[in-house]
Amino acid sequence: MNLATDASIPQEEMDSLLLELKQQLRERYPDGKYLRAFHPKMHGLLQAYLDVRTDLPSELESILFTPGKRYEALVRLSNGSRTVASDRKKDLRGFAIKIIGVPGIKVLEGKKNAVTQDLLLANYPSFPPGTFKGTVKGILATSGGLLKKIFFALTHLRTVWRALQSAKHCENLLNETYFSQVPYHYEEQVVKYVLRPKSLAPSCEAKDKDNFLKERLQENLRKSEVQFELCLQKREANDPIHNAAIEWKGPLVVIATLTLLSQEFDTPARRTLGENLSFTPWHTLHDHRPAGDIGIARKKIYEIMSAFRHHDQAVPEPTNFNC
Ligand code: HEM
Repeated sequence: MNLATDASIPQEEMDSLLLELKQQLRERYPDGKYLRAFHPKMHGLLQAYLDVRTDLPSELESILFTPGKRYEALVRLSNGSRTVASDRKKDLRGFAIKIIGVPGIKVLEGKKNAVTQDLLLANYPSFPPGTFKGTVKGILATSGGLLKKIFFALTHLRTVWRALQSAKHCENLLNETYFSQVPYHYEEQVVKYVLRPKSLAPSCEAKDKDNFLKERLQENLRKSEVQFELCLQKREANDPIHNAAIEWKGPLVVIATLTLLSQEFDTPARRTLGENLSFTPWHTLHDHRPAGDIGIARKKIYEIMSAFRHHDQAVPEPTNFNC
């Protein structure tokens, strides 16, 4: 058995989850103009460079992470909740990176020859439900009536506590640290990713009380570029692969720098592209594919939910970051 990848995903749970998510979108957007089932509120689609460390340790070299390699990238920043809401609400914040110019054959049918590769992160170190079954239970319970929610909360105190912790107030997206939360293959190793700011962005006022995260992002990026360090966390002996609720404790190794360019990003073209693009952890080189129970389940979920919201009209992957 391949410890990292072999997780059997129960078909019944998968079917109920997809049915529920599609039904929610139909109800939320009766005109058929579907946004994402999760992370629908976009703060911005940003142009970036990803520069792999020139002195990357040789055991970490891969086709993707080649020392000194510079990639263009597009970054979509979002709130995690299922509905578009005020930034004042406690929430999880998403940081999705589309790396552009990646050679090699990718995993997903229909995207095999694309020159892109995605990496999805959020500003909490673990994934509270832990397993795929736990995730489905939680989603179905929180989609139901009050009694169902109360029953779920009382019977899953720890999960609910962790989920509440993961939804936080956020003052500035540029000052957050983002985590893959779940493990990935890295050639022969299994790792998690962490993206942390190199320095704190200067504070700035915001007038729009419901959309201040975009306003601050624009204000900061108008004045200067902003850098993050992309780090690897190697798996240590007892770090679980199939339970994403448990945080790994190993040290971080910096592998690349992500530079958000100084830019005006809130344009109609950029907003449209941000809505239309899809990010999935399975749009990747085989050597960097997701590992573990949640990772395996996400392959089908993102493919089907993205196709659903696009009414099966595939949107081509970008070949550069100009838009
Ligand atoms: C079984 C667990 C999960 C389910 C059911 C799920 C479901 C989804 C769905 C349906 C979307 C919208 C896809 C689209 O329409 O294109 C999405 C987006 C997203 N998910 Fe997950 N997800 C899960 C786990 C995770 C984990 C572990 C992370 C870790 C960081 C994550 C981060 C994100 C981010 C950042 C986005 C927004 C991507 C974008 O900007 O397009 N998700 N998720």
